[in-house]
Amino acid sequence: MLIEKDMKLADVLHHDHNLIPVISRFGIKLGFGENTIEEICAAQQLDSDFLLTILNTFHDPLFFADRHLKSFPVGLLISYLKETHKNYLNERLPYIALLINRLTETSSDHKTAYQLLMNFFVEYKKELTKHIEREEKVVYPYVLQLEVAIASGTTSDALLQQVNTYSITDYEEEHENVEEKLFDLKNIILKYLPPTTDQNLCFTILHELFILEKDLNEHARIEDTILVPKVEEMERIINKRA
Ligand SMILES: [Fe+2]
Ligand SMILES: [Fe+2]
Repeated sequence: MLIEKDMKLADVLHHDHNLIPVISRFGIKLGFGENTIEEICAAQQLDSDFLLTILNTFHDPLFFADRHLKSFPVGLLISYLKETHKNYLNERLPYIALLINRLTETSSDHKTAYQLLMNFFVEYKKELTKHIEREEKVVYPYVLQLEVAIASGTTSDALLQQVNTYSITDYEEEHENVEEKLFDLKNIILKYLPPTTDQNLCFTILHELFILEKDLNEHARIEDTILVPKVEEMERIINKRA
């Protein structure tokens, strides 16, 4: 299904509930009644084309977002990506930590095994946080600087030096490492965790990890297939000009 602006947002979410966290990153709150996507965007001064592209990218992995997203200003894309980071760091990860903690506290046997799971999760969280911090402190500001340089027609020596020393491809590899760690975490629970009296709690933790994984994969896909090529293109323009 292609999501279009004259569709009622409630119908779209009935059709694909995975989009609920996405609309919340755009500041859309529940209680939108019978309103269409276009009406909601107009009322909240949101770019409806951009919202639709992000929704379609999430909804259908075959949706070819590249040519759509490349036409939006980098700033718009980066502020969406930052909202997503906030959601991971301030909501998703703390909630999963809380659930794993509960598992450790409620079990009388196998406490050590659950503690090991927690330690592994803490390591994963550290790695993801480090990746996000690097994006926000190094990668995104660099991309925004490139955009300014191209728009203004002037490149500072410092930026030119950065263009020639920094490699955006290293950044793609980092995504794979973070993804592997999350896969291992799910495997520990699926394959190696000792039996617990609270199976439902384990199911909830697994479910949360699968949701996080899907979300992170889409997020990294936008970064790898939209942001990285955009950077490479801007770097080429600046190099040519120099
Ligand atoms: Fe990111
Ligand atoms: Fe990333």
